[in-house]
Amino acid sequence: MEIDSSGYKNIVYFTGAGMSAESGVPTYRGSGGIWSEYRWQEYACQTAFEEDPQKVLAFHELRRQAVLACRPHTGHDVIAEQERVHSGVTVVTQNIDGMHQRAGNKKVIELHGSLWRLRCPWHGVIEDIGEKYQSYKCRGCGSWLRPDIVWFGDSLDPGVVSEATGAIRNCDLLVSIGTSGVVWPAAGFPQIARENGARLIEINPEPNEMSHLYDETIRTGAGSALPGLFKKQ
Ligand code: APR
Repeated sequence: MEIDSSGYKNIVYFTGAGMSAESGVPTYRGSGGIWSEYRWQEYACQTAFEEDPQKVLAFHELRRQAVLACRPHTGHDVIAEQERVHSGVTVVTQNIDGMHQRAGNKKVIELHGSLWRLRCPWHGVIEDIGEKYQSYKCRGCGSWLRPDIVWFGDSLDPGVVSEATGAIRNCDLLVSIGTSGVVWPAAGFPQIARENGARLIEINPEPNEMSHLYDETIRTGAGSALPGLFKKQ
């Protein structure tokens, strides 16, 4: 399959953990997934943070170290190149690892927040990039800083959801890469794109419950599927 992206007005790359798998960042589900090694109840929910903020922050530092040891792969580079050559490209990602931005994408909607931000309950969001957090506590008021990530039981930021939904509604090509399609509202995005007449392509070595919605599926990893998928502009 070769896609001529110039034939589409608005293209959304909708990505999940499988997008970063070939960079070495573990996925959440499946064998070797983060949630089979760590109980999310202890590390990825507000209750865990309130019970032991230090433990939760230390876990996220481990994830930051793991992500910084990885690099975007050729699949990320293809998506970044597509944004350079096409004015209607948006990335809607469930990933918190910042890999698309590291590869060069600018229009990235992060549905589930970012490993590279912290939040003070009183002083708002702070950008903090590095293996270690600069401080676990707000320098202004001393409150514990919480990773600016959507954890289990959290609501998504309504502004971010509406921006993402708008991009999905407007797109005429949706390329979904590396998501298991079980976490909502993101799991509903392919259906929204379909209802609005977009062409839907799935890149994922494994089928899942949402796979039937796609017009075409590529059953290989992102790193081998993306190079060569688009006609050179
Ligand atoms: N290329 C493409 N897809 C891959 C690859 C690869 N190399 N390797 C694995 N996959 C696929 C798996 O088959 C699976 O369908 O990536 C998907 C990863 O699924 P999850 O681990 O469930 O990740 P995701 O869908 O992003 O999870 C959604 O769940 O825990 C929360 O907030 C977390 O954002 C995350 C959300």
